[in-house]
Amino acid sequence: MMVLKHCVLLPKLLIAFNMKNIAVIGAGTMGNGIAHTFAQSGFKVSLIDISEASLKRGMETISKNLDRMVAKEKISESDKTETLSNISTYTSIPEGVKNVELVVEAATENIDLKLNIFKQLDEACVEDTILATNTSSISITQIAAVTSRPEKVIGMHFMNPVPIMKLVEIIRGYNTSDKVTKTIMSLSETLGKAPVEVNDYPGFVANRILMPMLNESIETLYNGVAGVNEIDTVMKLGMAHPMGPLQLADFIGLDVCLSILNVMYDGFKNPKYAPCPLLVNMVRAGKLGIKSGEGFYDYSESRKAEKVASQFSK
Ligand SMILES: NC(=O)c1ccc[n+]([C@@H]2O[C@H](COP(=O)([O-])OP(=O)(O)OC[C@H]3O[C@@H](n4cnc5c(N)ncnc54)[C@H](O)[C@@H]3O)[C@@H](O)[C@H]2O)c1
Repeated sequence: MMVLKHCVLLPKLLIAFNMKNIAVIGAGTMGNGIAHTFAQSGFKVSLIDISEASLKRGMETISKNLDRMVAKEKISESDKTETLSNISTYTSIPEGVKNVELVVEAATENIDLKLNIFKQLDEACVEDTILATNTSSISITQIAAVTSRPEKVIGMHFMNPVPIMKLVEIIRGYNTSDKVTKTIMSLSETLGKAPVEVNDYPGFVANRILMPMLNESIETLYNGVAGVNEIDTVMKLGMAHPMGPLQLADFIGLDVCLSILNVMYDGFKNPKYAPCPLLVNMVRAGKLGIKSGEGFYDYSESRKAEKVASQFSK
């Protein structure tokens, strides 16, 4: 059986970082992927969510994704058992973050909710704990400002699906220290990821470039220039994109795309980031993409959604 290379390297690196216990807040799409990735690299992970149902769903997803890796002979059956045994679940933040060296927050994208979580984390965590957020668009500097340790607050923006995608966008807030940035960059490498350091401005780098392209694809559809399949085919076959932009928007979630565009529109005060009226209407109508069963494509049969997801993860 093939065992992931970074698992073998890890014990030495763990000692270097003095990091062994981490907490992940939120067991949704991103949170369970982040917990999976750390646990597979040998970290003890506290997975925390306010919802018992989310924790159960999150653990089921991790187990299914590990099964897929076993079937592909990327990990062994005992790697799977060990990974699962590295994860404990909690519904209370203070209980789950006791004695952790790092917290990665991946709760719902909502500014008030995140500020509230970071206030709680600041109170519950020991002084040295680094507080990271997986936010797609909210200012790291603003989140850091509600804590007493802004130099230890940083963005750790994983991509979906986390166990497969290599990139981690590491976002330095205005006050994030060099030491914390270096630690998180090196830590990301030990997870087998490729970290890239960027500064804290709306959309960071990934979404600042991606979202205008997705928005323009929606605008192209709205203007009647071409249909959904035609737009996606042009970008897939003409630009070698693995997934068409409208399909990708469905995969990310149209509500998430709208919220990121609004953050950039407000943050830069530039009309080039204004969300297309069709996107706004679809979100108002509850057409959010794969997660709601319908977006630019129809995912009413669960099989179809899975097919799209597996196509993306190849
Ligand atoms: N979905 C993506 O493709 C993607 C990609 C990169 C980053 N992100 C970011 O990751 C974060 C999570 O996104 P997601 O898509 O996983 O969302 P999601 O809706 O799938 O999951 C969010 C989870 O947070 C939990 N939660 C809400 N309030 C909480 C609280 N107070 N304490 C603990 N848990 C709480 C919810 O119960 C839910 O399980 C967001 O900040 C989002 O912007 C998402």
